Amino acid sequence: LHVTLDGHGNLSGEIYRQIRRTILTGQLRPGDRLPPSRELARMLAVARATVTTAYEQLAAEGFVTSRTGSGTFVAETGVRTGRRVARTSSEGSLRPLPTWKAIKMPIVFEAPVPFDFRTGLPDASLFPHRTWRRLVSGALRSGDAASPYYGQPAGHRSLREAIARHVGISRGVEASADDVIITTGTQQALDLLARVLLAPGDLIAVEDPCYVPPPRLFRSHGARVVGVPVDDEGLVVDALPRHARVVYVTPSHQYPLGMAMTLARRSALLAWAERNNSTVIEDDYDSEFRFDGRPLEPLWTIDARGRVIYVGSFSKTMLPRLRLGFLIAPPSLMPALHTAKFMADFHTSTLEQIALARFIDDGGFARHVRKASRVYRERHAMIAETIERDFAPYLELVPSATGLHLAALARTASADDISAVAQRAAAKGVVFYPLSSLAVGAKARAGILLGYGAIAAEQIPEGMRRLRRCFGKS
Ligand SMILES: Cc1ncc(COP(=O)(O)O)c(C=O)c1O
Repeated sequence: LHVTLDGHGNLSGEIYRQIRRTILTGQLRPGDRLPPSRELARMLAVARATVTTAYEQLAAEGFVTSRTGSGTFVAETGVRTGRRVARTSSEGSLRPLPTWKAIKMPIVFEAPVPFDFRTGLPDASLFPHRTWRRLVSGALRSGDAASPYYGQPAGHRSLREAIARHVGISRGVEASADDVIITTGTQQALDLLARVLLAPGDLIAVEDPCYVPPPRLFRSHGARVVGVPVDDEGLVVDALPRHARVVYVTPSHQYPLGMAMTLARRSALLAWAERNNSTVIEDDYDSEFRFDGRPLEPLWTIDARGRVIYVGSFSKTMLPRLRLGFLIAPPSLMPALHTAKFMADFHTSTLEQIALARFIDDGGFARHVRKASRVYRERHAMIAETIERDFAPYLELVPSATGLHLAALARTASADDISAVAQRAAAKGVVFYPLSSLAVGAKARAGILLGYGAIAAEQIPEGMRRLRRCFGKS
């Protein structure tokens, strides 16, 4: 309990006011015990009676109760705690920069829903809990995780090496550990890149529609964000604004529509970046889950000029709450990126880095991804077949053979119609994101996104039946 006295005025009154405030703000909760009066008096260097007077006043007003022999406890006051803090911060004189008023908080996934087709969520039941516990305790036992010194900003050497090998084998990305920086998820990789590459007012092009957090992040850095349309072949390179300093793309599995960027478009994008002296950020967020055909290689592998930065995440293959991701960048950017990472948070937690490095090195990660892919492949097929069979009058499936979600475009319905469907579905326990919620510009396409990370295969048929009823009677 923190009480400060400046030695003047009514000391009992001051102790009473400060404790009362900690109760009202919720810092002290019902049932919490106040320090014994003798002890607090000693800490504050006041007479014991000064403290007991304050405690008696708190008791008289019902803030605390005293139990003889056991102490003084915060009472159930019935006052909604925390209100004062909230009111002070929203109505007080402190204000964030205007940018922060304009940026909305994206939805944070928390509550489970009965038929959960939300995108971006892996199946947590597939997470190798037992193995992970073993790896984390092993990492804890290694002196490295328990060192009193800060680690390297770029990340633990073992994980940088493991990732360099892993992306080499699985994605054909030839990189050495020195090219890798471990980040707190994709989101931090993009944050570091924005710090290093974008000045306020600079233009960054993103795909439209686009994963919601990155454009907001770029705007928070003062950048101007332009949405560039995508078609069946991916980003429409001809529509890129000439002055874009950076282009943020998802070539392997366009988020959210799901198609892969064709080789012709990839080549055009790289040539465009070279002509316009621009940087391309490639977000390869979920291509570990591949259901048929040979994956197109990442942009990074056909970039001869070093204009591409490759970003990866363990949020889909492991768990989003691990907050582990990485970026692979050309040597020219490395010193600035190391410094930016240091400025942001010194480095990502070492314990999990060591555990993950071991998991990758001993082959457990690859086995886990293969197992998860089999599970997701089945769900992917179930949803794709149902859309094509039962939703044909309403929806057209976007072909996709990767990842954790599918997209389907509305044949005739408007974006507003689809929002109404989403509302009707939510009332039946079926939750999905309308495609329009990911629009960057004013022109939103109508369609739906169906994620299958968070819904078990057994629940898919009933979820789809309920959803089908929300579209109409035919
Ligand atoms: C396009 C895209 N990139 C990256 C991520 C993962 O971000 P992070 O690694 O910050 O969890 C997601 C998650 O939904 C995504 O959709």
